[in-house]
Amino acid sequence: MSKSQVKLYYKNVTADVIGEEKGISSGRLQALAEQTSPLIQKLNTERNAGQTPYRALPYNEKTPQQVKALAAQLKDDCENLVVLGIGGSALGNIALQTALNPYMYNLDAKQRRGPRLFVFDNIDPTQLASFLDWLDTSLDKTVFNCISKSGRTAETAAQFLIVRKLLSDRLGPQALKNQIIATTDPKQGTLRKIADEAGLRCLEVPDGVGGRFSVLSAVGLFSAAMCGIDIDSLLAGARDMDVRVSNEDFYKNPAALNAAINYHFYNNGRKISVMMPYSFALKDLADWYRQLWAESLGKANALDGAQLNIGPTPVKALGTTDQHSQVQLYREGPDDKLFTFLQVENFDTNLKTGPAPDSAPELNFLADTDLSSLLNSEKIATEYALLQDKRPCITIHFDTVSPYTVGQFICLYEVTTSLAGALFGIDAYNQPAVELGKEATFALMGKKGSYKKDLTYEEFARRIRSVTEVDPAFMA
Ligand code: PA5
Repeated sequence: MSKSQVKLYYKNVTADVIGEEKGISSGRLQALAEQTSPLIQKLNTERNAGQTPYRALPYNEKTPQQVKALAAQLKDDCENLVVLGIGGSALGNIALQTALNPYMYNLDAKQRRGPRLFVFDNIDPTQLASFLDWLDTSLDKTVFNCISKSGRTAETAAQFLIVRKLLSDRLGPQALKNQIIATTDPKQGTLRKIADEAGLRCLEVPDGVGGRFSVLSAVGLFSAAMCGIDIDSLLAGARDMDVRVSNEDFYKNPAALNAAINYHFYNNGRKISVMMPYSFALKDLADWYRQLWAESLGKANALDGAQLNIGPTPVKALGTTDQHSQVQLYREGPDDKLFTFLQVENFDTNLKTGPAPDSAPELNFLADTDLSSLLNSEKIATEYALLQDKRPCITIHFDTVSPYTVGQFICLYEVTTSLAGALFGIDAYNQPAVELGKEATFALMGKKGSYKKDLTYEEFARRIRSVTEVDPAFMA
């Protein structure tokens, strides 16, 4: 039986559809093929040499076994699973849950195949306090998965300190061992040290896998397994796509085409890349993509050190919701965007409308019809409208939304990101600009000791305040 596949459709970026001036001609596409093909080969070589460890995650057999074994131990007594983490340690968890579990999962026990899931990727005290108030009587039935690769991210560390105190005060020190999982680096970092000392149960963020490439490791798999998602099928889908995105024939490789098309349009004035799923389930995959794309491709320097300040700005929109919010701008505003729609062919549930009242025959076209057909018609209508204005559109087609297709999509976008990074000539795997903000937070919160050679955290804090102190003369 042929498996359901995720496919990239790119006719609507070509010169045949949007004209020679704005579209990609077949000659230009061939030039992109010649530029991209050696990079596919290079990426394959790096992959085979173990230099891009995220590519090995779908093939790892040990991690899913560990994750499933731990989930089996915990599931029966766990009513709530709480993920503490941020960025790449949170977004994959959220995306898998929204894509693969029902909309009312947390609220309706009948629709649940595991504990409720809450992901805290923020430190707003009002939000967290409200949650902890609600948790009150079911604290003993709650498991906290603290996810931090570095183990030193201030947000996650602060959440951990709150939960640690709450559990010890209310349920005693044994509760830490029973109810906290630490997902972190196998060997080093603050969370690893704490976990080893306190005897916490641990899962690993594999060596060399950055947060935003880690969803197919224990980082994303544990909450998915706890909440009844078929992680074997998710990984099988990623393996299926991994084969397709390794194809050295540019025209058969969806990641290569996707990366090259994005690269072309960025270099031709389209600095904004809009991802617009026409499926509520896929909306948080667009959020996951936003981080993957922004943190990987937004870079000051080329690999050779030359200053570039490069990177497409990823924007998330949701069809049909944002037709009534963004599409006016998308059609008539600056012509600086490339659009990527996510379209689902077969929804696993469908709803039919009812008959139109006699008094409103103008609604007959909507009577007794499928909602999914209205949703997909609206996608096609929006795409048509954009094409009238010669705005380029890609569509990622999902036969269905399932663990298998979501696994394919994740792999497609991870490898697209690697190839786009190679085309732009930058390092897609670091995030130096995020680090400064992290260190500045430590300084402002009173960290002691040396930040850098010849600069203590105290001096660094004074330097930050001298720049950022509020000047009342400018307050209106
Ligand atoms: O993708 C990344 O590397 C980042 O978004 C990190 O995931 C994020 O900063 C959290 O880092 P950590 O997992 O070390 O707490």
